[in-house]
Amino acid sequence: MKPTRDATEPGPRPGPADFGLPRPAAFSSPAQPLRELGGPPGWPLLGHLPILDRRRLQQQLECWAGTHGALYRLQLGRRPVLVVADHQLAQDVMRRRPQRVLRSPTTRRVCQELGVDGLFMSEGDRWQALRRLTVRAFTPEMLRGFHPRLLAIGQRWRERWVAALRQGHQPDLARDLPRFSLEVGVALAMGVDLGAGHDGRGQPGAGSLQLQADIEFLIGQVWRRINATVPLWRWFKTAPERAVDAAIERVRQALLPIVEQARAHRAAQPEATPRHLLDALLIAQARPEAGEQPIELSDEQLVRLLTELVFAGEDTSAHSLAWLMTLASRHPGAWQQLQTEIAQACPADGPAHGPDYDSLRRLPYAEALIQESQRLKPVISLLMFQAAEDQVVGGVLVPKGAGLMTLNRYSALKLGPEDRHDFRPERWLAVDGQAPCASSMPFGAGARTCPGRYAALLQMKTLLALLAPALDLLPSQAPLPAEVLEVTLRPAALDLRWKLSSRCG
Ligand code: HEM
Repeated sequence: MKPTRDATEPGPRPGPADFGLPRPAAFSSPAQPLRELGGPPGWPLLGHLPILDRRRLQQQLECWAGTHGALYRLQLGRRPVLVVADHQLAQDVMRRRPQRVLRSPTTRRVCQELGVDGLFMSEGDRWQALRRLTVRAFTPEMLRGFHPRLLAIGQRWRERWVAALRQGHQPDLARDLPRFSLEVGVALAMGVDLGAGHDGRGQPGAGSLQLQADIEFLIGQVWRRINATVPLWRWFKTAPERAVDAAIERVRQALLPIVEQARAHRAAQPEATPRHLLDALLIAQARPEAGEQPIELSDEQLVRLLTELVFAGEDTSAHSLAWLMTLASRHPGAWQQLQTEIAQACPADGPAHGPDYDSLRRLPYAEALIQESQRLKPVISLLMFQAAEDQVVGGVLVPKGAGLMTLNRYSALKLGPEDRHDFRPERWLAVDGQAPCASSMPFGAGARTCPGRYAALLQMKTLLALLAPALDLLPSQAPLPAEVLEVTLRPAALDLRWKLSSRCG
């Protein structure tokens, strides 16, 4: 079996083969004004705002696409929005960035107020400069340098889950996967291991615990504030809003010295291999490529960029892993096949050891599990944009300032072969490097596609390769848990059941 691609390191995108989806229609007739396009009935003045089901928004919008077509109109207060569910038109919209299509101003403003202000939130020249810098930081060299720390974090969590099973409890992965992911994110961003022993007894120090609590708390504020009908906190600070400000300030105070230390370390050892993003960013900053303007980032700007990178990777990676395990538990033989692959590709002296970086690049079945679970459960597939100028999308004239919402999973679920609703990782083990489903775009599309995808895939494969030899995932006949949207799409509950594998004793 050949992998469709090595998902751990950057490489060419697979070919455009798909489930035989129709090409987009050619729109030669005059464009239809957005205000005349059909859509679900809304309220006077407020439009669809009162009927949006925030936690089930993804399903609600996909369901409306089934009724009103792959292009329909919503009215969010005074703002008209074109919803684009066809994947080729969605890709077309995303490829109009950064000039003609911008990120949603609401998301941008809310995140900036929470101290998160980097690539995701930028536009124009600032985005161009940060994008170049960030993409240069996510090198295979940096990921390789980071891998030992990732392994150490994964091993620590695996020991906890093994210990829970030895004591007769099921590990609580709904609670632990986001924490694992946060530890990985902070270590990747700035080289700090939040879970490492600082107090001599193997427990994290109070500073690390506070930072972890603050970051988790702030991540939780993003969805709440995006969905607030009136952003009261801008005029009036209640006690909970003052707690948000205090958390932002504590994160800032905790990260500033880390940036200073990294600068000092880089100055003392300019040739050392980068082992985290901050290090790689400092290198990229100090050594602009030929013809590139040098980019100067202050410590404050670096803190805000790093905070964004931590936020961007936390829920996304944790919930992708949660869906993968949930789907694998419903697919007979999937976990065993993973265990066989890991046993062959990552020979270790025993389950106490971890897979090395190179062996992780030879895991076609693990990659197929990731790709197939991301096809059915992409954790970010509802993206909100704003038209920067008048433009035509799929024959609809979208005025400057209108919203554009892409439903990136809709095509993968609605069009294609009979078995498209089934979780079948085998479909990704296709020959000739052709992707079986080009409509699947879990990391976005165009110039603003996720720069952290190789880090996320490395994190997922590392955890799978650590768990497979030690734990058996028990099969389940239960229906899949419901989907809940809170920035990312997560399972409403995790009903995984594990047992120690015979190799683990
Ligand atoms: C499984 C995990 C992940 C998923 C599913 C995911 C998905 C996405 C998606 C869908 C986008 C929007 C792309 C677009 O607008 O076209 C995005 C953007 C972004 N992601 Fe990820 N992501 C993941 C992990 C990460 C990690 C680990 C990091 C950083 C450490 C990261 C950093 C970013 C950043 C900075 C952007 C904004 C890029 C830009 O605007 O230029 N992501 N991600």
